Amino acid sequence: MIKFNKVLKDITSYEAGKPIELVVREYGIDPKDVVKLASNENPIGTSPKVAQVLRDHADKAHLYPDDSMFELKEALSCKYEVKSENIIIGAGSDQVLEFISRAVLDDKSSVLMSAVTFAMYEIYAKQMGAKVLRTLSYEHKYDEFIEAYEMKKPKIVYICTPNNPTGDATSKAEVLRIIRAIGEDAIVVVDGAYMEYASAKDQAYAITPNDIMEFPNVIYLGTFSKAYGLGGMRVGYGIAQEALIAQLSKMRPPFNISSLSLAAAIEASKDTDFVEESIALHTQEIQTL
Ligand SMILES: Cc1ncc(COP(=O)(O)O)c(C=O)c1O
Repeated sequence: MIKFNKVLKDITSYEAGKPIELVVREYGIDPKDVVKLASNENPIGTSPKVAQVLRDHADKAHLYPDDSMFELKEALSCKYEVKSENIIIGAGSDQVLEFISRAVLDDKSSVLMSAVTFAMYEIYAKQMGAKVLRTLSYEHKYDEFIEAYEMKKPKIVYICTPNNPTGDATSKAEVLRIIRAIGEDAIVVVDGAYMEYASAKDQAYAITPNDIMEFPNVIYLGTFSKAYGLGGMRVGYGIAQEALIAQLSKMRPPFNISSLSLAAAIEASKDTDFVEESIALHTQEIQTL
């Protein structure tokens, strides 16, 4: 009998949102009548410019991608005014979360997050045998985070803003207050998967990688899956000081981003009109709530 790693008995697999095709097949309804709310995909669709680039790359599938990801890192360097050595690219920011967990966790460590937040933080921690600690509130409250940090000294502290699935955002001032009170022994992850939407709403909630670059133990995560409309391409990134990125890079498998995904993300980073349209729709919908 196969003896699986004992940590597996404690893990419930991530349940992804049902694809539209499956709902159509199951209920025999028109795909146009299905609105998928799970996974927070971009309702506008794929940028036509990105779609064209994907077609243009169709005959280059025999080539391995550029493992240095030079062009994509250049694009992100320009956007955020950081060096390419400050950037790690993952197959979705999900994969960067995995690199972080594998780099520091073991069965004697713990991670700290808010009461209700992105499911993968817990799954990656449990894969490493680490304990999961949660604050009482789903908001990221300074007192709750610092009390739990002081008591348990977790190796990773997650700040998800705007938070998935609750949608609330934490102000930059509060995030920085939490970061400053946490010792440099823990990695603080500022997960900005939905940051484009928060920034558009109120500048007090806008956090950029530059805001955290002075801290050697903090990493900012971003993704092309949401406002950039590339969920299916799987491209995300982490931005931090060079020494932290160098350690996390040891966890990265070669060619972890396909050439099509790289090309799509490079084009998406140039297509600012598409992102602005996504943000405008989001802002408009929020106002009708
Ligand atoms: C808060 C948060 N972080 C990270 C991710 C991972 O996104 P991706 O792997 O598509 O970049 C998601 C996806 O839904 C998310 O909601």
